[in-house]
Amino acid sequence: MTSLLHIDASVRAAFNPNPHHNSISKNIAKHFINALQKQYTIDEYIYRDVGMNPPAFINQDWIGAVFTPEEKRTTEQKEILALSDQLIAEVAAADLIVISSPMYNYGMPAQLKAWFDQIIRIHKTFDFDLARGDFPLQPLLSGKRLVIITSSGEFGFDADGIRANQGHLVPHLRTLSKYLGVEHIDEIASEYQEFADIRHENSLAYALDQADALAVELKLRLIQQQRLAQPIEYQ
Ligand SMILES: Cc1cc2nc3c(=O)[nH]c(=O)nc-3n(C[C@H](O)[C@H](O)[C@H](O)COP(=O)(O)O)c2cc1C
Repeated sequence: MTSLLHIDASVRAAFNPNPHHNSISKNIAKHFINALQKQYTIDEYIYRDVGMNPPAFINQDWIGAVFTPEEKRTTEQKEILALSDQLIAEVAAADLIVISSPMYNYGMPAQLKAWFDQIIRIHKTFDFDLARGDFPLQPLLSGKRLVIITSSGEFGFDADGIRANQGHLVPHLRTLSKYLGVEHIDEIASEYQEFADIRHENSLAYALDQADALAVELKLRLIQQQRLAQPIEYQ
């Protein structure tokens, strides 16, 4: 049984009357998930477009509700946390998470950050213990795979790229994914959108090829994972 949680974060739609306005990251994610579904059965698929339907920003009342013991929460506090509870349940149920995101101002869109802020929550997705010394936070979820799909206007955000120290999107996603219970990450990136030249065409074509190859590889890994999870039957 495989559950896939698919999060899109671009504020642009996948398809628009003018195709030049179509979200690149959403279309690569679609391509990847279609390729995976052609060869592997996804039992449960949950989709959220946080770019177009952003979760609420957390506020002081939200923090107050989180730090109130569950049995003492008022009805109002429970309502404040209802969305967070739902989003966390979706992450907890997922074996595979796909996050597609544009780069905005060298990082993730505020809408995607709002999603993470609702999910990374004490006693739910991490616990905190000063007995652990300098690293008191520990994730409570585990065993998930994440596919990060990004699109940017400029290029060279890799560790050895010309803008290596300006790319905060993927590093931030990698840091936060630990608190979603992610233990393995694959990345697909399309770059050069703002140059609208052959480099962009090549980058996008390569990203789509990578999506096809990753679908094949992931199918094998998910099958292997399921086999390992099955109890051994002795004759
Ligand atoms: C508000 C905004 C900020 C952006 N900031 C950056 C940036 O800092 N670096 C970059 O390389 N591209 C930047 N871009 C370009 C986008 O990353 C690029 O258009 C990307 O394809 C958007 O993703 P999408 O096609 O999935 O919507 C920005 C675009 C917008 C609309």
